Amino acid sequence: MDGNGRWAKQRGLPRVAGHKQGVEAVRRTVRAASELGIEALTLYAFSTENWRRPEDEISDLLGLLRFFISRELDALHKAGVRILILGDLCRFPADIVADIKHAIERTAGNSKMTLAIALGYGARAEIVHAARTLAAKAVAGEIAPDQIDEVMFDAALYTHDMPPLDLLIRTSGEVRLSNFLLWQAAYAEMIFIDQFWPDFGHETLAQCLDEYARRERRYGGL
Ligand code: IPE
Ligand code: MG
Repeated sequence: MDGNGRWAKQRGLPRVAGHKQGVEAVRRTVRAASELGIEALTLYAFSTENWRRPEDEISDLLGLLRFFISRELDALHKAGVRILILGDLCRFPADIVADIKHAIERTAGNSKMTLAIALGYGARAEIVHAARTLAAKAVAGEIAPDQIDEVMFDAALYTHDMPPLDLLIRTSGEVRLSNFLLWQAAYAEMIFIDQFWPDFGHETLAQCLDEYARRERRYGGL
């Protein structure tokens, strides 16, 4: 979800106006994904690196996160969406962590679509976290080091409860992964588009799915 700031700048608006429109894009996109039959959608909402932003911008983003959860939770639950969080919430304010916990518990039994929100997320931190988890198990004698394989490593990642990543879309013209789902993206199809995130919605998602359907996935085979 990139390009909120530039969307606002183009219109002579403060960055927070772009973030606000970004929240609307999230609402539209979650609904569109569900309509289009997507099984799981992950949104990269706040990275470990985003903590480096100025304090007032962080507080705007946290405020919008609060607003999003309180405004959307009922509708998401009614629509059968299961909410998951990928990332480390330890730096987030206690009230937001409590809201998130509530949202996860309330929607845990839903099965129409999984919405994973990457918050305080960094793929390298996720991989280190998984390595630590497995190392601790090995030290405790629960597993032997040579038992660790890709399946076990995968199961120690934040995404353990999710289907494999098929398609990764990056908005705003940047052509890099920025520490997003590095392990999971090994064989994902990638689409990079110039559109800024606040303009994203059903139409663009459907176009991306059309392009995805034209790709031939060989996973290293022939
Ligand atoms: C993404 O938009 C918003 C979040 C990090 C939540 P940006 O804030 O990165 O927008 P640009 O890159 O300045 O346009
Ligand atoms: Mg950006």
